[in-house]
Amino acid sequence: MSHHQSLREALRVATRAEHKALEAQPLMQRLLSPELTLIEYGQILRAQRAYYRDLEPALWPLECQRRVRFPDADYRYHSRIPSLEQDCQVLQLPDDHDIEASLSQRQPLHSPEEALGVLYVLEGASQGGRVIARALNRSLGLTQGSGADFFHRHVTQDGWARLCPWLETIPMDGTWHCALTGAKATFTGLKAHFDHWQRQLSDR
Ligand code: HEM
Repeated sequence: MSHHQSLREALRVATRAEHKALEAQPLMQRLLSPELTLIEYGQILRAQRAYYRDLEPALWPLECQRRVRFPDADYRYHSRIPSLEQDCQVLQLPDDHDIEASLSQRQPLHSPEEALGVLYVLEGASQGGRVIARALNRSLGLTQGSGADFFHRHVTQDGWARLCPWLETIPMDGTWHCALTGAKATFTGLKAHFDHWQRQLSDR
């Protein structure tokens, strides 16, 4: 760990394999396909909505503690749920009563230091999100306001740009270890969540 110049770099290196695995997850792969259908896109949106609905209530208290512990950071997490709900409403997607909740992918969150790693993953998603936003425009003609607000916000929001310089400044101590643990668990949990949704959807 000590040979890394910053927490940001340590996070990138430590989670490379987990990112690759998530990127290769079949639902993620479909998002980039020119043959993506509106039905598949709707299923992926619902899976994303379910993920953030589950995660954010656990994240908020730690996010508040994080701000107390690191008051100088010029960074705030903004909820993803409004944009996801907006997209689901525009596309008239159903509620998730028909999907069995899976507890296995749920990530226990213990500390604001661990939440740092979670935020790294959620904000870094904007890097792939930009690619996805362009792909959605090409495949389904979707853009902001027509069902692609969630992915479009990856293009317009500056969470990643604000988080990264701050992550460069955090000196190495116990925080690093907790942040790496939180980031790895977030990638792994999100992949498990998509796998679960994929199984549920293919069973019908
Ligand atoms: C099909 C899906 C995805 C694709 C194609 C993709 C692609 C990318 C690309 C091209 C980068 C920039 C790499 C670089 O600048 O070196 C990136 C970075 C990143 N992505 Fe993804 N991504 C995908 C899904 C996700 C998801 C769902 C998450 C998390 C929820 C995520 C988290 C991250 C993070 C944290 C980084 C920053 C790595 C760093 O520079 O520290 N990605 N992704």
